[in-house]
Parts: sequence; structure tokens; C-alpha cells
Amino acid sequence: MNEIRGKRTLAENVIEYEIAAPSIVRNARPGQFVILIVDEGGERVPFTIADFSAEKGTVTVLVQTVGYSTMALSQKNVGDSIFAIVGPLGTPTDLSGYSNILLVAGGIGSAVIFPQAKALFQRGTAADVVLGARNASLIFYEEEFRRVANAVYIATNDGSMGVKGFVTDVIGSLVQKKRYDAVFAVGPLAMMRAVCELTRPLGIKTVVSMNSMMVDGTGMCGCCRVTVDGKVRYACVDGPEFDGHLVDFDEAISRAAFYAEQERGHVCRLKGV
Ligand SMILES: Cc1cc2nc3c(=O)[nH]c(=O)nc-3n(C[C@H](O)[C@H](O)[C@H](O)COP(=O)(O)OP(=O)(O)OC[C@H]3O[C@@H](n4cnc5c(N)ncnc54)[C@H](O)[C@@H]3O)c2cc1C
Ligand code: FES
Repeated sequence: MNEIRGKRTLAENVIEYEIAAPSIVRNARPGQFVILIVDEGGERVPFTIADFSAEKGTVTVLVQTVGYSTMALSQKNVGDSIFAIVGPLGTPTDLSGYSNILLVAGGIGSAVIFPQAKALFQRGTAADVVLGARNASLIFYEEEFRRVANAVYIATNDGSMGVKGFVTDVIGSLVQKKRYDAVFAVGPLAMMRAVCELTRPLGIKTVVSMNSMMVDGTGMCGCCRVTVDGKVRYACVDGPEFDGHLVDFDEAISRAAFYAEQERGHVCRLKGV
């Protein structure tokens, strides 16, 4: 059993959990994720390792409440336990060879870019960071990023914080002033595709993180497949990070919506309704 050691609400429907998982912490790297089973008999749900502390033996996950399992998790409090936690899974982020990185997150994508920002800070090449959301109340981890980033820029659709517009508006003006070796962009598929379309003609390497639907998380079931450079790849083991200029986003977007109709009318076996 893995005890919840910390719980903090960060934004509307976004909660940060610190969970005791010493064996996972020992091997955790930026870009990796865990799979949780919240209660016995529950489904397997993947979450990015947003942070980890060797001292405390805890991993931090930032969870957006969207459905049954994330709702069940949101009911848990400090001192409660998570039934099971498996990880670290996935291939760690490769930050080698870059000295000027731009990290970009839409919404919960901050969970992926925060450990990257921390690692870059620790090696003395702090990144520029762009955070985007619909409005100011959905921006979180701003202070955490300011502690480890070279500069933090914010874009909100309604202009309630930072630039009014999309992350691509901010990136568009940053690339006029500074040459980046690489952009790491994490968020909704449409956002990652838009960033890739912006950086492709500029020849800036762009890495995205594919949050495909996952089941086993070990490359066995095929659920998380994505097409990259015309080849089938499994986000859980080959990724979740891939060269965004080679990802087939049309297919990924269509696969993400594949079961939308069934999901609307389905009876949940966990809830019975
Ligand atoms: C590698 C990876 C890292 C992720 N990291 C985070 C994170 O740090 N924070 C966060 O809030 N969310 C993260 N997610 C998404 C998270 O796993 C889903 O939001 C969660 O599984 C939803 O479960 P639910 O029962 O609450 O909702 P449901 O009602 O079951 O699903 C709501 C939506 O969540 C997505 N989803 C559902 N089940 C899965 C699954 N097994 N795998 C992937 N997506 C699923 C689907 O788009 C679905 O339509 C990550 C997903 C992946 C693949
Ligand atoms: S989740 Fe099964 S192959 Fe990736």
C-alpha cells in the first residue's frame, strides 16, 4: 500500500499528490510515468511523475479530475493509501546535446515539463517556459517554474493572465528573438500539433509527449500505438516522447475519439451505472 503524504489543490479540478513509493523514486527520471490502481478492483490509470524526492521516498503526480478513477482519487486524503502503483514506466526524456530549450505546456502538460525544467536548471542550462490555459484560474505551478526556469511566459485564451491568446502566439514572438535548439511541447493533441506546425518551417527540433489510451503500460496490449515516421510505436515503452514532426497527429486525434460514442452510453462496470 502506498500512503498519500501530501495533497494540495492547484487549480479547478487539478490536485497534486505526494505518494510514498520509495522503490519507484530510486529509478525515476523526467518523462516517465506511473500506473495507479486507486482501489482494489479498480482500473489502471497512467500519470506522469511530475516530481520525486529521494529524501522523502515520494513521487508527486498532478491529477486532473475527469472521470471515475480520477474522481475516486480526488476523494482520498493524506494518510489514505493507493491500492497499487507501478513504475517508473516509459523512456526518460533525452535532454542531452541541447543548451537552449523552450518548454511548453498546455494545462496538465505542466506535469511533464516540470521535471524537465528542474533537470535543466540542475545542469546549469535553465529553460524558457511557456504555460497556457483557458484562463488564469487554470494556470498552476507558476512559482515552482519561476524557481527553476530562465523565464516564464503565460498565455490565456481570455487574457486574464499573461498574453491573450494561445501558447503558439508566445512561441511565435520568442523564436523571433532567440534561437532554440529544441522545443518540448506537452498538452492537448491539437496544441502539440499547432506547435509542431509552427516549428517545422523554422527547423527547430520539437518533442511531444503522447498521452495515448493505455492499458498494461508495458508494450503488450497495443492500445497506446501511435504512428511515428510511418512506423508503429507504443507510447508506453517507445515513448511517451517522440519527435513531433514525425508523429501522425491526424491518426492520433482520430484514435483518441474512437470510442467517444460507446463512452457516452456505456455502463461502468466499476460503478454499475
Ligand atoms: C503516459 C500518460 C501520462 C498521463 N499523465 C497524466 C497526468 O500527469 N495527469 C493527469 O491528470 N492525467 C494524465 N494522463 C491522463 C490520465 O491517465 C486520464 O485522465 C485518466 O486515465 C482518466 O481516468 P478516469 O477514470 O478518471 O476518466 P475516464 O472517464 O475513464 O476517461 C476520461 C478520459 O481520460 C482518458 N483516459 C481514460 N483512461 C485512460 C487510460 N487508461 N490511459 C490514458 N488515457 C485515459 C481518455 O481520454 C478518456 O476519454 C496521462 C495519460 C498517459 C497515457
Ligand atoms: S499500453 Fe499496452 S502496449 Fe502500451
